[in-house]
Amino acid sequence: MKVDQKDRFDSLSELFDEAIIIVDEAGVVTRSNAKAFDLLGTQITYNPLDNFLRHPDFLTALDAASSMGKKTDLNYTRMGHVRRDFKIRIAPYEVDEIILIIFDTTLENSVERIQSEFVANVSHELRSPLTALAGFIETLQTSAKDDTEARTRFLEIMQNEADRMQRLIDGLLSLSRVEAEEHRPPRNQVDLMQLVETVVAAQQHRAGANNMEIVVRNEWPPQDELPLVRGAEDELSEVFHNLLENAIKYGRDGSQIDVRVTTGRGINQQFRPDLVRVQVINIGETIPEEHLARLTERFYRVDKGRARSMGGSGLGLAIVKHIVNRHRGRLRITSSAGETCFSVTLQGIKKD
Ligand SMILES: Nc1ncnc2c1ncn2[C@@H]1O[C@H](COP(=O)(O)OP(=O)(O)OP(=O)(O)O)[C@@H](O)[C@H]1O
Ligand SMILES: [Mg+2]
Repeated sequence: MKVDQKDRFDSLSELFDEAIIIVDEAGVVTRSNAKAFDLLGTQITYNPLDNFLRHPDFLTALDAASSMGKKTDLNYTRMGHVRRDFKIRIAPYEVDEIILIIFDTTLENSVERIQSEFVANVSHELRSPLTALAGFIETLQTSAKDDTEARTRFLEIMQNEADRMQRLIDGLLSLSRVEAEEHRPPRNQVDLMQLVETVVAAQQHRAGANNMEIVVRNEWPPQDELPLVRGAEDELSEVFHNLLENAIKYGRDGSQIDVRVTTGRGINQQFRPDLVRVQVINIGETIPEEHLARLTERFYRVDKGRARSMGGSGLGLAIVKHIVNRHRGRLRITSSAGETCFSVTLQGIKKD
């Protein structure tokens, strides 16, 4: 590339949201825009691009561009903390040069995936309350037509089924909203202790209805130095609402629910003062080991019958997991000797 061509490439390529890279015939990077550096690192310059972008058809596509002048699109997926999808367009550029444009298709793909799964899951989950509703309507129109007592009872059941459908739809909408946002980390600063206390205050009366009590403790050493975390307040609230609802629903009546705000731990259990961890601990039945890893799948319930009768649709923890992922945090679930602990770890913000 001549000097004026290079300048032109630089100014033009910075106008695009896509990563744009020029390689020579051997696949060595000669030019790229800032977006390409964000995605693949600055060390790509003058190195074979193949080292940074592993794809089985990459070299064939380069060859097709340089020897036949052919344009190829490749789909590329990166499995990091969150899955990201790309389309790489490879085409001839100047003599002996090939241009690569990398489009981020994550949002498009996740929306498509969510939509198709949405239809399948929702149809399945809505079928049983709908069948029940249709059955009761028919009974009310025929055999129970003049039975006032039965009518009152049936209407109550119908109300519950309709409520269940409503909750299911609310949950699904909430889930698809978080999923679509997942690759975009939140930016606000959140006082986690205050947030947890607000959520607990709102859940305390529900706990009371089961003779339970929620006890919050700030175990950060020293308490008043608990760092803020980067997050979206409404989403983090939803996380702790869901975890506390579960603790109340699946915990033993009359037991205590503990919420502890503390430091994160590293791999060897050493303190990580850069991480804030919130644990929601309840006493009740131990969740068998084989279910633990699957609890965050949408619609997954350990005991379907029991969870359903409690109005559960199996979406709460899927929503929690996606929100924690969006925050680049961690969710850990442990359950032994009747004690179940959901632990959410988030990045603390360093004080200047
Ligand atoms: N604290 C807990 N103790 C025991 N089991 C739990 C606990 N929390 C969740 N579970 C199990 O995990 C399953 C999935 O939980 P999740 O919150 O995703 O769904 P749900 O509570 O059934 O429905 P939803 O939250 O959508 O109303 C539950 O059905 C239950 O079997
Ligand atoms: Mg739940």
